Amino acid sequence: MATNEDNLKKIIAHSKEYGFVFQSSEIYDGLSAVYDYGQLGSELKKNIKEYWWKAMVQMHENIVGLDAAIFMHPETWKASGHIDAFNDPLIDNKDSKKRYRADVLIEEYIEKIRLKIQKDVDKGIQRFGADFDETQFRATNPNVLRNQAKIDEIHLRFKVAMDEEDMPAIKVLIEELGIACPLSGSKNWTDVKQFNLMFSTEIGSVADAASTIYLRPETAQGIFVNYLNVQKTGRMKIPFGIAQIGKAFRNEIVARQFIFRMREFEQMEMQFFVRPGEEMKWYEYWKKERIKWHQSLGIAVENYRFHDHIKLAHYANAACDIEFNFPMGFKELEGIHSRTDFDLKQHEKHSGKKLQYFDPELNESYVPFVVETSVGLDRTFLSILSAAYQEEKLEGDSERTVLKIPGFLAPVKIAIMPLTRKDGLPEKAREILDVLKFDYNCQYDEKDSPGKRYRRQDAIGTPYCIMVDHQTLEDNSVTIRDRDSMEQERVNVSQLETIFRDKFDIRKRLK
Ligand code: GAP
Repeated sequence: MATNEDNLKKIIAHSKEYGFVFQSSEIYDGLSAVYDYGQLGSELKKNIKEYWWKAMVQMHENIVGLDAAIFMHPETWKASGHIDAFNDPLIDNKDSKKRYRADVLIEEYIEKIRLKIQKDVDKGIQRFGADFDETQFRATNPNVLRNQAKIDEIHLRFKVAMDEEDMPAIKVLIEELGIACPLSGSKNWTDVKQFNLMFSTEIGSVADAASTIYLRPETAQGIFVNYLNVQKTGRMKIPFGIAQIGKAFRNEIVARQFIFRMREFEQMEMQFFVRPGEEMKWYEYWKKERIKWHQSLGIAVENYRFHDHIKLAHYANAACDIEFNFPMGFKELEGIHSRTDFDLKQHEKHSGKKLQYFDPELNESYVPFVVETSVGLDRTFLSILSAAYQEEKLEGDSERTVLKIPGFLAPVKIAIMPLTRKDGLPEKAREILDVLKFDYNCQYDEKDSPGKRYRRQDAIGTPYCIMVDHQTLEDNSVTIRDRDSMEQERVNVSQLETIFRDKFDIRKRLK
C-alpha cells in the first residue's frame, strides 16, 4: 500500500508508462489538473462505473438511472445557489506568488496536530501492547487533551468565520496559527477572497449576458430538474432514487495531487427522495450502504473512515465524507449529504413549477427531502490504484511491480500466452482466446520469455495468465498463473469458462 508522496509520484509514473492516465494535451506541455485516461485506464474506469451502477441501480428496485446534459438552463445555478455561494476562500502568498485555499491551509495545520496525537497514542500502544486502553488514554492524557482542545478551537473559529463569510477573520486565524507558505516558508499573505468555481461560456452565436451558461459543477442538479419527469413517467413511489454518472467541472484553485483534484472530473451521484422528517433515517442508511460498497471492492477496510463536515454546504442539514487513505493521507472520497428540500423548493421558486409528490399513504402532497450519495469516479480510480500498487522483492535478487487490482475491476482479465511461437502453440492459444474474449477483456502475448511476460501482466494488474505449452497439445491442459500468489495450476481447457466465471463472479460482492 502506497503511503507517502514518493509513492504518489511512482503511481503517476506507472500510470503513464502503462497507459492508465496521461496528462491532457501533453504534446503542448499539458493542461493543469486535466487528465486523459489511456487504453487501460479507460477500462478500469468503465469497470468501476459498471460496478457502481449495478450496485446502485440494478440491485435496487426503487432506484433508476438518468443521463442529463452537461449544459443546463442558467437559472438552474441561481436556484441551486451555486452562482452566489459556490466559492472557495483563496489566499495568495506574496513572496512565492502561490495561491492556496485558505480552508485547506487550516485543515493541513489541524492534520499536523492530529498526527501529534496519533504519535502519543502509538507510543502508548508500543509500551503497553494489548493492555493499552486507547479510549481512556485519549480522554485523560494531558498532551492529547491539550492538542484536541486546540483542534476544537480552530474548528470552531473557522466554522464561525465561514458561516458568516468573514474572510478577514480567516486571514487573522492563518496569521495567528503562524501558517507559512509550504513553498517559500513565508507568512506574507494577501487578504482572503471568495472565488467562484464555476466555468462559464456562451451559448449560441450572440455573446451577451443573457446567453452565459455554465459547465455543471455537480451532476445532481440534472437529477433535481428531472425529478418530476422521472417520478411521473417511471411511476416511482417515495422513497425512491435517481442515479447518474457524468462529468462535472470546477475551476479548482489548488489543482494538484494528480487525479485527486481535477478541473474536469466524473461523479457517480444518487439522489434519494424521501418523506420530510425521515431524512435522518435514510442518511444513516446510506452511510452504511455506501461504506459497505467501498469495502466490497476488496481493499483493506482500515483504509476507509468517516469524517463529519464542520462547515455544512448551503443546502445540507447533515453531511459527512467517506475518506480514503490516499498516498497523501486520509482525504475525501465520497460525500453523503442530507440536502433537505432545499434544491426542489428553490427550483419550484425559480421555475414557477410545482415539484411536489402526492403521497397516497399519507393522502397529502409535499416537496420530498433528499439524501444524496456522491462519489468521485476519478478518486475511486486513484484509491484502487494506490492500494493496488506494490513493489515486491522476490526470491533471489529479483523484484516486481504489481498492481493488485481487485480481479473483477482489472482492465485486462486474462492474458493468454503460447510458451513458444512454434509447434502450433500460438494457434491453440488463439483458439482459447477466441472463446474467452466473449466474456472478458483478454490479451494475447507471445513475445519475450514467460518470466518477462508475467512481469508485464503483473505491472498492468492482469489477475490470471494462461500458458499454452507442449503438454496442452497432448492432453488439452493449460496452466493458470495467479497474479498475487504467482502460483500455477494445471487445468483442462474445457474447464476454463467455468473457472473464470467463478473467479470473476461479482454476486458475492453485490450481496
Ligand atoms: N453533489 C454533491 C457534490 O458535488 P462534493 O462533495 O462537492 O459534493 C462529491 O463532490 C465528490 O465528487 C467528492 O467526494 C469527490 O470524490 C468528487 N470531487 C469533487 N471535486 C472534485 C475534483 N475537483 N476532482 C475530482 N473529484 C472531485
